[in-house]
Amino acid sequence: MTDSNNDLAALQRQARMRRSIEADINRLFAAEDEGLRYALTAAKQGGLPEIQISPIQGKFLQLMAAACNARKILEIGSLAGYSGIWLARALPTDGRLITLEVNPHHADIVRRSFTKAGVADRTEVLVGKALDLLPQLTSEAPFDLVFIDADKPSYPQYLEWALRLARPGSIIIADNCVRRGEAFHPSEDEGIKGLYEYNRRIASDPRLVSLVLPMDDDYTDGFAIAVVRA
Ligand code: SAH
Ligand code: DHB
Ligand code: MG
Repeated sequence: MTDSNNDLAALQRQARMRRSIEADINRLFAAEDEGLRYALTAAKQGGLPEIQISPIQGKFLQLMAAACNARKILEIGSLAGYSGIWLARALPTDGRLITLEVNPHHADIVRRSFTKAGVADRTEVLVGKALDLLPQLTSEAPFDLVFIDADKPSYPQYLEWALRLARPGSIIIADNCVRRGEAFHPSEDEGIKGLYEYNRRIASDPRLVSLVLPMDDDYTDGFAIAVVRA
Protein backbone atom coordinates (compact mmCIF):
# COMPACT_ATOMS: atom_id res chain seq x y z
CA MET A 1 0.00 0.00 0.00
CA THR A 2 1.11 3.56 -0.68
CA ASP A 3 1.63 6.07 2.11
CA SER A 4 -1.51 7.98 1.21
CA ASN A 5 -3.53 4.76 1.32
CA ASN A 6 -2.15 4.17 4.82
CA ASP A 7 -3.03 7.71 5.84
CA LEU A 8 -6.55 7.29 4.53
CA ALA A 9 -7.01 3.99 6.35
CA ALA A 10 -5.71 5.55 9.58
CA LEU A 11 -8.09 8.49 9.23
CA GLN A 12 -11.02 6.17 8.61
CA ARG A 13 -10.12 4.08 11.68
CA GLN A 14 -9.93 7.26 13.75
CA ALA A 15 -13.31 8.51 12.50
CA ARG A 16 -14.89 5.10 13.21
CA MET A 17 -13.43 5.09 16.70
CA ARG A 18 -14.74 8.60 17.41
CA ARG A 19 -18.21 7.63 16.26
CA SER A 20 -18.25 4.45 18.33
CA ILE A 21 -17.01 6.29 21.45
CA GLU A 22 -19.71 8.90 20.99
CA ALA A 23 -22.37 6.20 20.54
CA ASP A 24 -21.22 4.48 23.76
CA ILE A 25 -21.30 7.73 25.74
CA ASN A 26 -24.72 8.51 24.29
CA ARG A 27 -26.12 5.14 25.27
CA LEU A 28 -24.71 5.16 28.79
CA PHE A 29 -25.18 8.83 29.75
CA ALA A 30 -27.56 10.60 27.38
CA ALA A 31 -30.28 8.22 26.22
CA GLU A 32 -33.38 9.97 24.87
CA ASP A 33 -36.81 9.04 26.21
CA GLU A 34 -40.21 9.42 24.55
CA GLY A 35 -40.54 13.08 25.60
CA LEU A 36 -37.32 14.13 23.92
CA ARG A 37 -38.06 12.05 20.84
CA TYR A 38 -41.52 13.65 20.60
CA ALA A 39 -39.91 17.11 20.44
CA LEU A 40 -37.72 15.94 17.53
CA THR A 41 -40.67 14.42 15.66
CA ALA A 42 -42.85 17.49 16.24
CA ALA A 43 -40.04 19.72 14.95
CA LYS A 44 -39.66 17.66 11.80
CA GLN A 45 -43.43 17.54 11.15
CA GLY A 46 -43.68 21.29 11.75
CA GLY A 47 -40.98 21.94 9.15
CA LEU A 48 -38.51 23.38 11.68
CA PRO A 49 -34.77 23.19 10.96
CA GLU A 50 -32.85 20.36 12.67
CA ILE A 51 -30.50 22.59 14.60
CA GLN A 52 -31.18 21.45 18.16
CA ILE A 53 -28.34 20.52 20.50
CA SER A 54 -27.10 16.92 20.64
CA PRO A 55 -28.03 14.48 23.44
CA ILE A 56 -24.54 14.80 24.92
CA GLN A 57 -24.92 18.57 24.97
CA GLY A 58 -28.32 18.13 26.66
CA LYS A 59 -26.74 15.99 29.37
CA PHE A 60 -23.94 18.54 29.68
CA LEU A 61 -26.55 21.27 30.34
CA GLN A 62 -28.02 19.09 33.11
CA LEU A 63 -24.54 18.61 34.58
CA MET A 64 -24.01 22.37 34.67
CA ALA A 65 -27.47 22.93 36.19
CA ALA A 66 -26.64 20.46 38.95
CA ALA A 67 -23.24 22.09 39.52
CA CYS A 68 -24.79 25.50 40.24
CA ASN A 69 -27.79 24.08 42.12
CA ALA A 70 -30.09 25.62 39.54
CA ARG A 71 -33.64 26.52 40.55
CA LYS A 72 -34.15 29.16 37.89
CA ILE A 73 -32.98 28.84 34.30
CA LEU A 74 -33.25 31.24 31.34
CA GLU A 75 -33.03 30.01 27.75
CA ILE A 76 -32.75 32.33 24.73
CA GLY A 77 -33.90 30.48 21.57
CA SER A 78 -36.32 27.57 22.14
CA LEU A 79 -36.87 26.08 18.64
CA ALA A 80 -39.06 22.99 19.40
CA GLY A 81 -38.19 22.64 23.08
CA TYR A 82 -35.54 19.92 22.82
CA SER A 83 -32.85 21.71 24.85
CA GLY A 84 -35.59 23.13 27.08
CA ILE A 85 -36.69 19.63 28.09
CA TRP A 86 -33.13 18.68 29.12
CA LEU A 87 -32.88 21.92 31.11
CA ALA A 88 -36.31 21.69 32.76
CA ARG A 89 -35.63 18.13 33.87
CA ALA A 90 -32.53 19.32 35.74
CA LEU A 91 -34.74 21.54 37.92
CA PRO A 92 -36.40 20.65 41.23
CA THR A 93 -40.20 20.32 40.90
CA ASP A 94 -40.66 23.89 42.18
CA GLY A 95 -37.95 25.24 39.85
CA ARG A 96 -38.57 27.35 36.76
CA LEU A 97 -37.38 27.54 33.17
CA ILE A 98 -38.22 30.64 31.15
CA THR A 99 -37.50 30.25 27.45
CA LEU A 100 -37.62 33.06 24.85
CA GLU A 101 -38.71 32.43 21.26
CA VAL A 102 -39.40 34.94 18.48
CA ASN A 103 -41.35 32.57 16.19
CA PRO A 104 -44.95 31.90 17.40
CA HIS A 105 -45.14 28.66 15.36
CA HIS A 106 -42.02 27.40 17.14
CA ALA A 107 -43.45 28.51 20.50
CA ASP A 108 -46.65 26.47 19.90
CA ILE A 109 -44.58 23.35 19.28
CA VAL A 110 -42.44 24.09 22.35
CA ARG A 111 -45.50 24.22 24.61
CA ARG A 112 -46.78 20.90 23.22
CA SER A 113 -43.33 19.32 23.64
CA PHE A 114 -43.08 20.53 27.24
CA THR A 115 -46.51 19.07 28.04
CA LYS A 116 -45.62 15.70 26.45
CA ALA A 117 -42.34 15.63 28.37
CA GLY A 118 -44.10 16.34 31.68
CA VAL A 119 -42.38 19.67 32.35
CA ALA A 120 -45.23 22.09 31.52
CA ASP A 121 -45.64 23.03 35.21
CA ARG A 122 -42.03 24.21 35.52
CA THR A 123 -41.76 26.10 32.24
CA GLU A 124 -42.87 29.30 30.59
CA VAL A 125 -42.47 30.17 26.91
CA LEU A 126 -42.33 33.92 26.17
CA VAL A 127 -42.89 34.92 22.56
CA GLY A 128 -41.02 37.88 21.09
CA LYS A 129 -37.57 39.16 20.22
CA ALA A 130 -35.29 38.25 23.10
CA LEU A 131 -33.86 41.77 23.31
CA ASP A 132 -37.43 43.11 23.79
CA LEU A 133 -38.30 40.49 26.42
CA LEU A 134 -35.11 40.52 28.50
CA PRO A 135 -35.78 43.89 30.23
CA GLN A 136 -39.01 42.37 31.65
CA LEU A 137 -37.04 39.62 33.36
CA THR A 138 -35.20 41.84 35.82
CA SER A 139 -37.86 41.07 38.45
CA GLU A 140 -37.28 37.31 37.96
CA ALA A 141 -33.51 37.53 38.54
CA PRO A 142 -31.23 36.03 39.56
CA PHE A 143 -31.07 33.14 37.12
CA ASP A 144 -28.70 30.35 38.13
CA LEU A 145 -28.08 29.26 34.55
CA VAL A 146 -28.52 31.05 31.22
CA PHE A 147 -28.42 29.15 27.91
CA ILE A 148 -27.92 31.30 24.80
CA ASP A 149 -28.84 29.71 21.45
CA ALA A 150 -30.70 32.28 19.31
CA ASP A 151 -29.60 34.72 16.55
CA LYS A 152 -25.81 34.90 16.51
CA PRO A 153 -25.30 38.66 15.83
CA SER A 154 -26.97 39.44 19.18
CA TYR A 155 -24.75 37.14 21.29
CA PRO A 156 -22.69 40.03 22.79
CA GLN A 157 -25.91 41.76 23.89
CA TYR A 158 -27.26 38.49 25.29
CA LEU A 159 -24.06 38.20 27.32
CA GLU A 160 -24.63 41.65 28.79
CA TRP A 161 -28.16 40.64 29.80
CA ALA A 162 -27.01 37.29 31.19
CA LEU A 163 -24.49 39.08 33.40
CA ARG A 164 -27.13 41.55 34.53
CA LEU A 165 -29.55 38.73 35.41
CA ALA A 166 -26.98 36.41 37.05
CA ARG A 167 -25.56 35.91 40.55
CA PRO A 168 -22.05 34.90 41.64
CA GLY A 169 -21.81 31.20 40.76
CA SER A 170 -24.28 31.40 37.88
CA ILE A 171 -23.29 29.59 34.69
CA ILE A 172 -23.71 31.14 31.23
CA ILE A 173 -23.57 28.70 28.31
CA ALA A 174 -23.74 29.63 24.62
CA ASP A 175 -24.11 27.24 21.68
CA ASN A 176 -22.26 27.43 18.35
CA CYS A 177 -19.17 29.18 19.69
CA VAL A 178 -16.75 27.12 17.57
CA ARG A 179 -18.43 27.15 14.13
CA ARG A 180 -15.68 25.27 12.26
CA GLY A 181 -13.15 27.54 13.96
CA GLU A 182 -14.62 30.65 12.39
CA ALA A 183 -15.83 31.94 15.77
CA PHE A 184 -12.23 32.74 16.80
CA HIS A 185 -11.38 35.11 13.96
CA PRO A 186 -12.61 38.44 12.53
CA SER A 187 -15.20 38.10 9.77
CA GLU A 188 -17.50 40.13 7.54
CA ASP A 189 -20.38 37.81 8.43
CA GLU A 190 -22.65 39.37 11.09
CA GLY A 191 -23.27 36.01 12.79
CA ILE A 192 -19.60 35.04 12.99
CA LYS A 193 -18.80 38.59 14.15
CA GLY A 194 -21.23 38.16 17.04
CA LEU A 195 -19.76 34.80 18.03
CA TYR A 196 -16.16 36.09 17.84
CA GLU A 197 -17.01 39.14 19.94
CA TYR A 198 -18.81 36.88 22.44
CA ASN A 199 -15.77 34.59 22.74
CA ARG A 200 -13.37 37.52 23.16
CA ARG A 201 -15.52 39.08 25.87
CA ILE A 202 -15.97 35.94 27.98
CA ALA A 203 -12.27 35.11 27.59
CA SER A 204 -11.13 38.45 29.07
CA ASP A 205 -13.95 39.57 31.40
CA PRO A 206 -12.53 39.53 34.95
CA ARG A 207 -15.99 38.64 36.31
CA LEU A 208 -15.92 35.31 34.47
CA VAL A 209 -13.91 32.12 34.20
CA SER A 210 -14.60 30.70 30.75
CA LEU A 211 -13.80 28.05 28.19
CA VAL A 212 -15.04 26.93 24.78
CA LEU A 213 -15.43 23.17 24.42
CA PRO A 214 -15.77 21.58 20.96
CA MET A 215 -18.35 18.82 21.47
CA ASP A 216 -20.69 18.63 18.51
CA ASP A 217 -20.67 17.74 14.78
CA ASP A 218 -17.32 15.97 14.96
CA TYR A 219 -15.94 18.69 17.23
CA THR A 220 -16.43 21.44 14.66
CA ASP A 221 -18.89 23.25 16.93
CA GLY A 222 -19.56 23.46 20.65
CA PHE A 223 -20.46 25.32 23.82
CA ALA A 224 -18.86 28.36 25.41
CA ILE A 225 -19.12 27.96 29.19
CA ALA A 226 -18.65 30.89 31.56
CA VAL A 227 -18.98 30.83 35.34
CA VAL A 228 -19.67 34.09 37.18
CA ARG A 229 -16.96 34.41 39.84
CA ALA A 230 -17.86 34.81 43.50
N1 SAH B 1 -32.09 25.72 21.83
C1 SAH B 1 -32.78 24.98 20.77
C2 SAH B 1 -32.33 25.42 19.40
C3 SAH B 1 -32.56 26.89 19.14
S1 SAH B 1 -32.46 27.32 17.40
C4 SAH B 1 -32.48 23.48 20.95
O1 SAH B 1 -31.31 23.14 21.07
O2 SAH B 1 -33.42 22.68 20.98
C5 SAH B 1 -32.64 29.05 17.49
C6 SAH B 1 -34.03 29.56 17.84
O3 SAH B 1 -33.92 30.93 18.17
C7 SAH B 1 -35.05 29.47 16.70
O4 SAH B 1 -36.22 28.84 17.12
C8 SAH B 1 -35.31 30.93 16.33
O5 SAH B 1 -36.65 31.17 15.91
C9 SAH B 1 -35.02 31.64 17.64
N2 SAH B 1 -34.66 33.05 17.52
C10 SAH B 1 -33.96 33.63 16.51
N3 SAH B 1 -33.81 34.94 16.74
C11 SAH B 1 -34.42 35.20 17.92
C12 SAH B 1 -34.63 36.39 18.68
N4 SAH B 1 -34.17 37.58 18.28
N5 SAH B 1 -35.30 36.30 19.85
C13 SAH B 1 -35.77 35.09 20.27
N6 SAH B 1 -35.61 33.94 19.58
C14 SAH B 1 -34.95 33.99 18.42
C1 DHB C 1 -27.91 27.26 13.24
C2 DHB C 1 -28.27 27.75 14.48
C3 DHB C 1 -27.95 27.03 15.62
O1 DHB C 1 -28.27 27.47 16.85
C4 DHB C 1 -27.31 25.80 15.52
O2 DHB C 1 -27.03 25.13 16.67
C5 DHB C 1 -26.94 25.30 14.28
C6 DHB C 1 -27.25 26.04 13.13
C7 DHB C 1 -28.25 28.05 12.03
O3 DHB C 1 -28.89 29.09 12.18
O4 DHB C 1 -27.88 27.63 10.95
MG1 MG D 1 -27.41 26.27 18.35
